[in-house]
Amino acid sequence: MDLVFATNNQHKLEEIQALLGDTIKVLSLKDINCTDDIPETGTTLEANALQKSDYIYSRYKISCFADDTGLEIEALDGEPGVYSARYAGTDKDAEANMQKVLEKLEGVKNRNARFRTVISLIMDGKEFQFEGYVDGEILKEKSGSEGFGYDPIFKPEGFDVSFAEMDLEEKNKISHRGRAVVKLIEFLR
Ligand code: IMP
Repeated sequence: MDLVFATNNQHKLEEIQALLGDTIKVLSLKDINCTDDIPETGTTLEANALQKSDYIYSRYKISCFADDTGLEIEALDGEPGVYSARYAGTDKDAEANMQKVLEKLEGVKNRNARFRTVISLIMDGKEFQFEGYVDGEILKEKSGSEGFGYDPIFKPEGFDVSFAEMDLEEKNKISHRGRAVVKLIEFLR
């Protein structure tokens, strides 16, 4: 079976193909000659994930899935949430995004936060969603250099280190995306 992953992130694609084995072949947007900038105008992770999977399904009529992730900070009423990539501006600058979070939380005691991923799968015209999340807290300053995005300021619950101080394998075992992908894979099997 072929399944399109509506992403331009080659790293995510390889990760999922490795987890799925030979029975399901994951195709990239490039594989189906899609060079469109797929719109993400939803106000929730669920809406955005569906918007992306539906964009591909309605045009190519091929089973596909898409993911959307956000960092939800309790003291900021769930910000940056669905706007995580562009929190500090349109250029998706991770350093500026982290700086904005640290400034907003200056002097704030409640540092609780959650990373949440929603995967939307469309098969034979029917949609299925899978959610994965990890709870943790926002550190007072950056720590570590692995990973990407908000990793240096996020410390998962039960650990003494930030995501940016973990290797990829360790992070994937407990991460929001890792957990959502496990649910997708169990469903596909
Ligand atoms: P996306 O939906 O996977 O593109 O994620 C949206 C934004 O959330 C990214 O641009 C990052 O800023 C942030 N993000 C997503 N996943 C992670 C993660 O695993 N660690 C840190 N930041 C992340």
